[in-house]
Amino acid sequence: MRSQVGPLNIDTLAWESLGKHGLRRKVLSQDQDTGAVTQYVQIPANWKGGGVSHFHSCFEEAFIIEGDVTLNGRDDLVTGSYLYRPSNIVHGHDEGANQGCMCIIRMGAQMDFNLVHDPESEEEYPLEVMTDPRGHVLDLRTSEMDWTGQGDEDNRYHFKLLSMDPETKAYTALLSLDPGWNGRLSTGNEYGREWFMLLGSWKREDGTTFDANTYYYAPPGTPHAAVTSSKDGCIVLTWMHAEG
Ligand SMILES: [Fe+2]
Repeated sequence: MRSQVGPLNIDTLAWESLGKHGLRRKVLSQDQDTGAVTQYVQIPANWKGGGVSHFHSCFEEAFIIEGDVTLNGRDDLVTGSYLYRPSNIVHGHDEGANQGCMCIIRMGAQMDFNLVHDPESEEEYPLEVMTDPRGHVLDLRTSEMDWTGQGDEDNRYHFKLLSMDPETKAYTALLSLDPGWNGRLSTGNEYGREWFMLLGSWKREDGTTFDANTYYYAPPGTPHAAVTSSKDGCIVLTWMHAEG
């Protein structure tokens, strides 16, 4: 179970090193029981990964805030790219980055590292039949997706669905409010929920402002204030959980 976090501005957190290849991270929230974690990660320019094929027993999810990263020596994830990698996907034989990037990486549990000595392919591939209903989202260019209008006329907002579990309805999405938006964006509190403000800000009914580069995690049952306005508009990366 994770405890409530935030609103937490990432500028207030210290960097810590992640692995042995120059990555740094700021932990945004962590489940102490399972090891599941949401982290803000910096990949340096000219980064070169370990260069060995491997897989993890938990899912991995990434959103590139700015910059690039290379997965198989060829395909670049760029600003706005989204990756959802289910458990047991073989990857990593030629990872790197040119300009480097800032990104958010979520892991579904404590990360293990299982080496594959003789990979079957240079591309990412499932070790066995994939059972994760979200599927394998390798590089969704979210900047090329159209926004979908949601809500009624007084509360119109915009949405891009990045991935969803059709069984539990847990999802990852981008949400956008236009400049001057004024309405009521209430969110249920039955399940845990995370937000990361990518751009702009919104104001909540309790008067607090949720600014750019701020993270918030609300566990199930948390009474949280509805969003009521956004002076300059905003874009938020959000995760709806199916449980804690
Ligand atoms: Fe990996």
